[in-house]
Amino acid sequence: MNSVLMVCLGNICRSPLAEGILRDKAEKLNLTVTIDSAGTANYHIGEHPDSRTVANALKHGIDVSALKARQFQVEDFDKFDVIFAMDSSNYADVISLARNKNDKQKVELILNRVYPNSNMAVPDPYFGGDQGFENVFILLEQACDVIANAIHIKQLSV
Ligand code: 4NP
Repeated sequence: MNSVLMVCLGNICRSPLAEGILRDKAEKLNLTVTIDSAGTANYHIGEHPDSRTVANALKHGIDVSALKARQFQVEDFDKFDVIFAMDSSNYADVISLARNKNDKQKVELILNRVYPNSNMAVPDPYFGGDQGFENVFILLEQACDVIANAIHIKQLSV
């Protein structure tokens, strides 16, 4: 797992936060890994993350303010080893673009790394209040911890 892509719908709330949290953990563990994020929709291309995501992340010491939204592209299947979807809708949208079995095998629901086979969603916080953003942070912090440790163990063993 040398390259990881985080995917949500708009690429302004959940996936940029996942990117920021995993990058922070990768830096602390000195991992060699490429991390990016994208949205399945085109609504927010070129925008910075939602101000509520930026504020919540900063509260936890993570700065995602400079990130810019982009849309998921088929070429991302070639560029990334693992593609983490935030919910089943994102998962289905990415899978629908897969060209073959190899592409499909790269796509996982991110919370299955914490709660195997649960198919739990990182809930979309966009239309809710501040507690939703904190909830997203807590879930993604857990998931990124597992992912960073998995990369760390793999890189220690080579
Ligand atoms: P995200 O949240 O997928 O976590 O970035 C959303 C952002 C924007 C919209 C929906 C979800 N929207 O409908 O514009």
